[in-house]
Amino acid sequence: MELKNDLFLRAARGEAIERYPVWLMRQAGRILPEYRALRATLSGFKELVETPELAAEVTIQPVDHLDVDAAIIFSDILVVPEAMGLPYQMLEQKGPWFENTIRSREQLNLLDTHIDVADRLSYVFEALKITKNALNGRVPLIGFAGAPWTILCYMVEGKGSKTFSESRKLLYTQPELAHELLSRITEVTITYLKLQLAAGADALQLFDSWAGILGREHYKVFGLKYIQQIVEALPGVPLTVFSKGALASLPDLAELNCTTLGLDWNMDVAYARELVKETKTLQGNLDPCLLYADHSVIEKETIKLLKSFKSQRHIVNLGHGVYPDIDPEKVKVLIKTVKNYEN
Ligand code: CP3
Repeated sequence: MELKNDLFLRAARGEAIERYPVWLMRQAGRILPEYRALRATLSGFKELVETPELAAEVTIQPVDHLDVDAAIIFSDILVVPEAMGLPYQMLEQKGPWFENTIRSREQLNLLDTHIDVADRLSYVFEALKITKNALNGRVPLIGFAGAPWTILCYMVEGKGSKTFSESRKLLYTQPELAHELLSRITEVTITYLKLQLAAGADALQLFDSWAGILGREHYKVFGLKYIQQIVEALPGVPLTVFSKGALASLPDLAELNCTTLGLDWNMDVAYARELVKETKTLQGNLDPCLLYADHSVIEKETIKLLKSFKSQRHIVNLGHGVYPDIDPEKVKVLIKTVKNYEN
């Protein structure tokens, strides 16, 4: 199906664009009253993720109500550990929780091997197919997965954490175990992402939410090595690597063969541009807290970011997911400012 608005894909590939594309990480979710209304009728988050018609519906909500230039499939990065044999629960107000964790060889051996990804994650592929059809070419559809390091963090910790010290401890005490787990996550993730493309995803994003807790050397060995394997398995695909907080690793990220790097709000756009030259598109990187400000401040800061761009290879986004209590009207101000900007 021909896309009516393919700005996001052209920007990712470094082709000519009339204006910068814009979308928001976590745009499908609690910021929208339409999402909260649907969610209130369900048993929980997982019911939404696992019911393809409903996941498709909330994926399209921000396209209808916020006028973004891309849709991202409604799912979660934690479906991968679950498919590997480590089920999760999403506790209200608390976040993810795993009954079992992987901190020893014995526990690693309890994971399922040779899993049928097409079958175990069929609900995601079905949601992509339904969404792709229902979008009818309005905007590109982004698929995603967690990067192996971030997935390891949840499998080892079993829940969110400020320090993920159990995960970092593993890198010093049982590095072979860490590598084995990372290899297994990587293998499943490659299959998962290829199947997302086959089901209709036009582009992909890897979320490495906990990249920033590793130093440069550790991130090279336990993070980037596996991201590199994923990138190399997907040649020519518009693919964003978002390594949140990985400031020290920007020169290494610039060497990856992906089309796009995601920047958080601590990363300097000009410095990142110097590193990547014209080989990559940069995505980001407004502070999510900007959206608490008045309309005039949102406009001013957005224009400041746009003016700082020295290349066409940019996709406008926040530097992390939009916070759930943000007024959607503020998001609309950001989006309108990008769409009306003429450089
Ligand atoms: O709009 C989109 O971006 C698509 C949907 C999406 C969700 N999770 C839905 C979700 C995406 C891309 C994710 C990725 C994800 N999930 C990440 C990486 C991005 C990041 O934020 O760093 C991570 C670390 C997770 C794991 C996760 N899922 C946590 C820690 C939590 C609890 C915290 C929270 O925000 O509530 C979730 C739950 C989650 N994932 C919700 C949504 C809409 C909230 C659940 C609800 O509706 O009750």
